[in-house]
Amino acid sequence: MRGDIVLSAYFLSLSIIFGNSMTEDEIEKYRQKTKAMFYHGYDSYLQYAYPYDELKPLSCSGHDTWGSYSLTLIDALDTLLILGNASEFRRVSKLLSETLNFDMDINVSVFETNIRVVGGLLSAHLLAQRAGVKVEEGWPCHGPLLRLAVDAAERLLPAFNTPTGMPYGTVNLRYGVPPSETSITCTAGCGTFIIEFGTISALTGDKRFINAAFGALEGLWKSRSKLGLVGNHIDVLSGKWTAQDAGIGAGVDSYFEYLLKGGILFGLPKLVDMFKEFYGKVEQYLKISDWYVWAHMEKGQVTMPIFQSLDAYWPGLQTLWGDIGPASRTLQKYHSVWRHFGFIPEFYQIASGEPYSGRAGYPLRPELIESAMYLYRATKDPYFLEVGRDMLHSIESSARTPCGYATIKDVKTHEKEDRMESFFLAETTKYLYLLFDEHNFIHQRNESEHHQTTSSLSLSCTTGSAGYVFNTEAHPIDVGAVHCCPSSRLTHVPEELKFRHLFNVRTKEPLKENSDTDAKTFTGAYTCKARPFHKKLSVLGAFFEGSKEFSGDLDEQIIDP
Ligand SMILES: *[C@@H]1O[C@H](CO)[C@@H](O)[C@H](O)[C@H]1NC(C)=O
Ligand SMILES: *[C@@H]1O[C@H](CO)[C@@H](O)[C@H](O)[C@H]1NC(C)=O
Ligand SMILES: *[C@@H]1O[C@H](CO)[C@@H](O)[C@H](O)[C@H]1NC(C)=O
Repeated sequence: MRGDIVLSAYFLSLSIIFGNSMTEDEIEKYRQKTKAMFYHGYDSYLQYAYPYDELKPLSCSGHDTWGSYSLTLIDALDTLLILGNASEFRRVSKLLSETLNFDMDINVSVFETNIRVVGGLLSAHLLAQRAGVKVEEGWPCHGPLLRLAVDAAERLLPAFNTPTGMPYGTVNLRYGVPPSETSITCTAGCGTFIIEFGTISALTGDKRFINAAFGALEGLWKSRSKLGLVGNHIDVLSGKWTAQDAGIGAGVDSYFEYLLKGGILFGLPKLVDMFKEFYGKVEQYLKISDWYVWAHMEKGQVTMPIFQSLDAYWPGLQTLWGDIGPASRTLQKYHSVWRHFGFIPEFYQIASGEPYSGRAGYPLRPELIESAMYLYRATKDPYFLEVGRDMLHSIESSARTPCGYATIKDVKTHEKEDRMESFFLAETTKYLYLLFDEHNFIHQRNESEHHQTTSSLSLSCTTGSAGYVFNTEAHPIDVGAVHCCPSSRLTHVPEELKFRHLFNVRTKEPLKENSDTDAKTFTGAYTCKARPFHKKLSVLGAFFEGSKEFSGDLDEQIIDP
């Protein structure tokens, strides 16, 4: 089944759009430009910002944003190998395994720590042998980066100790869930763990992780509305929705993504069935002339006809699912917004063709290029190379600074802001590179290749040959590796759902007097934190009540930019 889904994406080659073909030389030129873009950002981070989390590309300095763990370095690590830089990958792997320590009195986002830190470390751990790292006896079931990933993930587990199985949004890395933590979190914040936690359980045999991820997925599944939709924010203690707008974008996005990708990675039809069910409902209730909008989860009526930058992952997911025609039509809509402004604003009003005021920025997000990469792999239609070329061009000409690449504050003015999110080096540059690098190892599948490092590994262990599934931060997880470690019995996991209450989560230590002067709370503008109940939708730290901007008959208003 896993194979069928992946292959359908590769063999269903329906060219619908037909861009002007690009010569090999042009493609190579863009590949080199992408590489130079990555190194300008990466070298600047090392020079001006390390060991802080992120680079500040206007002030040429660094700052901590999501934790205090050199986040950009963790996030960029596997991109180095994808760009062919094995020696730097080895240097950074060693550096991180010698310096990272998660035993800190800091409050962090459970979701972001999982996708960026746990995901980044797991991916790098599984790529270590390919990068020429002298791996430990028993790799991939053992290794220093795996131990770090497990350490970080273990500190997130207390968040899952709730009556619904859905996690709190924030934990203190040392003390567990802060006593006054809100019980409201977003849908994606509940449903985006199965790739990382399932991989940890598969490699270590420790079932607490996959059980926690499954418990949260089950909690969400049970909370869907009669129409079969999920809302935007939920109370993890009561299971009641506090923001009932259903959509594919911010606050929800990677929940759908992880159902399909988790199903593919672990060969779990139950997850694929859940995805299939949601996919039908999304297409039925949220789609209007190839755009996706927000609708009330119980009543189904459209509440906000906006396109969000984060929505742009959807055509890539549709492509993985094999629905290529609709995927390319939607991608063309999104690309038309890019061409109009040179970037995609965080929120775009479909009816008026204008950015939503206060949400007009572009923080160097990857989703459009991610979808273009999937569609190009599936169709080989050069149109999708042109999407990459357009993105490369705008970022290079408007976001570049002497020491990195800057968030665009407003897509209409191209004014810059002093921030370079770690996903620029983890995702945006990686997907661009993979679009232009036909022969990258990430694209290859070689079923006849069996890398067996030790005789104790299971016979179905085929690292590096069964393809990769990207987590939502673009960290590739080696599909073959999840079957390597003898203790894993992943195919039986769904049955274990009923034992969820047996989790052995870290018991909360009493909150000690705070003696650590560096103690900080990292609840950056992008986490899913507490949202007032009366607010319609809360995304990226801002609240939207809906407004007259969102009224009238949508079908008649929708125009193309
Ligand atoms: C690898 O990255 C380092 C740091 O940016 C750089 O100095 C080195 O030239 C790169 N090597 C290759 C082969 O690209
Ligand atoms: C697949 O792996 C085998 C064994 O390593 C190798 O001989 C063969 O050339 C590979 N095929 C491709 C298409 O890479
Ligand atoms: C973490 O959050 C709790 C509750 O909001 C707060 O009391 C505590 O001081 C925070 N810890 C740090 C290190 O900021």
